[in-house]
Amino acid sequence: MVNVQEVIPSAKRLIKSLRDIGYDFSTAVADLVDNSIEAGATRIDILVEFDGDNSFVRISDNGKGMTVDELKEAMRYGSERTYNEEDLGKFGLGLKTASMSQCQCFHVASRTMEEINFIPAFCWDLAHIEKTNKWEIIEPKSKEILTLLREPLNEHKGTVVLWQKVDRMLGFKHPYGEPARKKLISMCRELEGYLAMVFHKFLAHETSREPLEIYLNFNKIEPWDPFARDEPETKELSSLSVKLSHEGVKGKILLKPYILPTKEGFSSPDKFKRASGPANWNQQQGFYIYRADRMIQSGGWCGIRTRDEHTKLSRIELNFSPMFDNAFKINVAKMRVQLPIQIKDTIDQAIGVAVRLAREHYDGKKKSSFKQSVHPTYAAQPSETDKKESGSDSDKSASSKSFSTSYGIETPKFSLDEIEEKAINISTEQEKPIIKQVFQRLRKDLFGKDK
Ligand SMILES: Nc1ncnc2c1ncn2[C@@H]1O[C@H](COP(=O)(O)OP(=O)(O)O)[C@@H](O)[C@H]1O
Ligand SMILES: [Mg+2]
Repeated sequence: MVNVQEVIPSAKRLIKSLRDIGYDFSTAVADLVDNSIEAGATRIDILVEFDGDNSFVRISDNGKGMTVDELKEAMRYGSERTYNEEDLGKFGLGLKTASMSQCQCFHVASRTMEEINFIPAFCWDLAHIEKTNKWEIIEPKSKEILTLLREPLNEHKGTVVLWQKVDRMLGFKHPYGEPARKKLISMCRELEGYLAMVFHKFLAHETSREPLEIYLNFNKIEPWDPFARDEPETKELSSLSVKLSHEGVKGKILLKPYILPTKEGFSSPDKFKRASGPANWNQQQGFYIYRADRMIQSGGWCGIRTRDEHTKLSRIELNFSPMFDNAFKINVAKMRVQLPIQIKDTIDQAIGVAVRLAREHYDGKKKSSFKQSVHPTYAAQPSETDKKESGSDSDKSASSKSFSTSYGIETPKFSLDEIEEKAINISTEQEKPIIKQVFQRLRKDLFGKDK
């Protein structure tokens, strides 16, 4: 017989330390939006009200809602639930940790079709936890709070989350006066940009889910497409799929490279400015990583290469399914992922052509050859490669440097320029001028010209 002792964590200490799990205002709201989307919401309303100590944020949706028992479970840190492959939730923590990262007191009310005349509500209040040191949620009694919570659910089912005592959100314990008000306005602007970006596929109806609308202070949020696909000069290169095997889970990662137009190639200066994104053009180059259609990372090369002014027009969509959460090391705040080590080299090679083309496009060298060279040298299509895949998924083979069909990438055809570039890259300083001379002769021989 094993002697066991139950050791319950200190509510006070744990809840307070979980406030620092890594959210900021925008990422915290986005985590609640995830919950609403998952609940089948087609409309989400975010209301940010500035009123000194009484400032609040209210996020309401028209999703399926929760019964009183479901709501109680949802309020639990580490709530129990089974997840489907395309679910946006993961840890059973987001609702609580995202809310508490911004405020000291949050309420949730919910209404389902089954219990249409009943709107249960519960609250986590830091002041109460401080007093009792117990994992206790409270049923609100205040008429004012109940009105705020229930008002959006008068006409339909759904869920409402209300943040009060928003100390962390504004960074002022008592958010009075002009500086706090101004800060809130700029935070709302940032939030709008963030939601427009992270949920652009949902807002543009590009997912298999119901169309979604998000309103911030009654203004509809328009999607921001990082690939500027409505610009005629944006180049969309062929998709690639890379096979991944991690801890017994096997599947594919989808990549789609884009080369955006130069400033002159955009249809207007305004469109060019908007396409830049929340950071700037240089910072926004690189991977756009999506998990179940929701963007997790916007830009950056995940350690594969460095940001370079000359490659700033390249943006690469990368999609992975939640079944690879462990491989991508997703964190609770869904703000950070890492490329799985075993496919880093393969991805690096797979995007090489796209990055080179983006560089050439930026440099303006190859404007005329650009259109012709994109597709012949970058021909790997997932459907084609799927048919050809024959190798194993083992991590051992993933360390190979060559383009291999076992990763779902078709061996590409290289142009003369690419072969020269590759030869230069692997040659010594003495060999480099010789290789350049040989390629010059080869060009003359083949095309009757030097370049
Ligand atoms: N807006 C909502 N509508 C319906 N159910 C919700 C909503 N928000 C949260 N829930 C329920 O609460 C649970 C806990 O949410 P959360 O703490 O964010 O963890 P996770 O999303 O990782 O499961 C969810 O799994 C879901 O069942
Ligand atoms: Mg969640």
